[in-house]
Amino acid sequence: MQLLAVMPSCGKSCSRSPQLFRQKIDKSGEGYKPVAKMQNEERKFLKCLVPPLMAAIVALSPLCNTQVSVGQTIDAQKGATLFRRACIGCHDAGGNIIQPGATLFLKDLERNGVDKEEEIYRLTYYGKGRMPGFGENCTPRGQCTFGPRLQEDEIKLLAEFVKSQADRGWPSIEVDGD
Ligand code: HEC
Repeated sequence: MQLLAVMPSCGKSCSRSPQLFRQKIDKSGEGYKPVAKMQNEERKFLKCLVPPLMAAIVALSPLCNTQVSVGQTIDAQKGATLFRRACIGCHDAGGNIIQPGATLFLKDLERNGVDKEEEIYRLTYYGKGRMPGFGENCTPRGQCTFGPRLQEDEIKLLAEFVKSQADRGWPSIEVDGD
């Protein structure tokens, strides 16, 4: 849409563009000519394409960024939902009702050597002490939850979520529904 809007500003040298496009399409099987050998007209045409292309890239880039952050938000939301389902009973607001020295706040995680995503993943998968493991292949059985197990990608989301919450001091989380 934005691209079309800036195209007319190209001026006369673009008037041959439909033909050039056709030529290029015809030759597409053989690859393009190297830039050095291009005829003047062709070069002019490409030059006048640069500003609208740049404009399009600039115009579209916020859109791309938005999509990335929407993706992140969805992951964070899924993480939050999983956390509420499986972890909040013992770790409400990042605390630990069973073992006060093992909260999900950064200072405890660091002290207990669980401050990296992979370590949080491992601990959540296999459990530790009085914390049950949630992984589908968690062993030994006595260490694993009697409740529903979690998929590997769910545990990964949880590890990401816990880590990012810990890094930010456990701000309260908004979750709409389950
Ligand atoms: C039944 C209560 C319980 C549930 C449910 C539970 N945890 Fe835990 N969690 C604990 C206990 C107890 C510890 C301390 C384990 C130890 O260090 O011996 C702990 C420790 C942790 C730690 C390390 C904290 C630290 O500072 O050492 C992480 C990370 C963690 N849990 C994540 C989770 C996640 C993610 C879930 C949800 C999938 C979860 N926990 C569910 C009881 C629970």
